[in-house]
Amino acid sequence: MKPKLVVFTGAGISAESGIKTFRDSDGLWEEYNIIDVATPQAWEKDKALVLDFYNKRRKQVIEAKPNKAHQALVALQKKYDVHIITQNIDDLHERAGSKKVLHLHGEIMKSRSSTDPSLIYKIKGSELKIGDRCERGSQLRPHIVWFGEMVPEMEKAYTIAEKAEIFMVVGTSMVVYPAAGLINYVQRNIPKYLIDPSDVTVGGITNLTVIKEKAGIGLPKLVEELLAL
Ligand code: APR
Repeated sequence: MKPKLVVFTGAGISAESGIKTFRDSDGLWEEYNIIDVATPQAWEKDKALVLDFYNKRRKQVIEAKPNKAHQALVALQKKYDVHIITQNIDDLHERAGSKKVLHLHGEIMKSRSSTDPSLIYKIKGSELKIGDRCERGSQLRPHIVWFGEMVPEMEKAYTIAEKAEIFMVVGTSMVVYPAAGLINYVQRNIPKYLIDPSDVTVGGITNLTVIKEKAGIGLPKLVEELLAL
């Protein structure tokens, strides 16, 4: 059996593919107010504005390509049972070729019914519009977990993290909960790595190696080392 390697990723892993992060100085939350576009209240108030915000994000994702960091994680699958738990809504891990990807905050390429969360659809093309409806006649919304909403995949993520034999954190500011709390479910004695060009605060974590580099540089190097073990 291959050793279980769990990777927790955030916006930073897609930065070198040209997708903006949220909290860096040129990040999305500098340009937009979270409350206006990424909350249930925003959806109640102005559906067209929310749809437009995510339509723009979707167009960028469609144009983007997986980068060296996404590809490095694909190479790891040769020797490890790789599970990616991502906060990202883009599909770059899947398009690179990673097989096991859990999206905690939803998926930009999917829509779902605004009344029945079990009705989830692939979006054809790049736009979701007012008047696009589920099979039961309700308006479709982006398949995104908004601020103030439950994170339905969290339990599944805890179960995966608890069984990790190696754990990596790549490109996340670790400030959005419950996702950022995932690292506390990882066993104390296993090797852990954190790759991010900025200083990221993770308190009380043992066996942690911090690699202060961009994902496209630091991750391929680490993967090479792990494949050579
Ligand atoms: N390689 C690796 N990391 C990078 C790179 C890069 N090339 N460029 C930037 N980063 C790092 C930043 O230093 C920062 O620590 O990526 C991190 C991005 O942090 P955030 O913008 O806060 O993104 P993330 O942690 O994924 O945000 C969590 O917040 O608004 C939400 O729902 C959204 O899932 C998202 C959640």
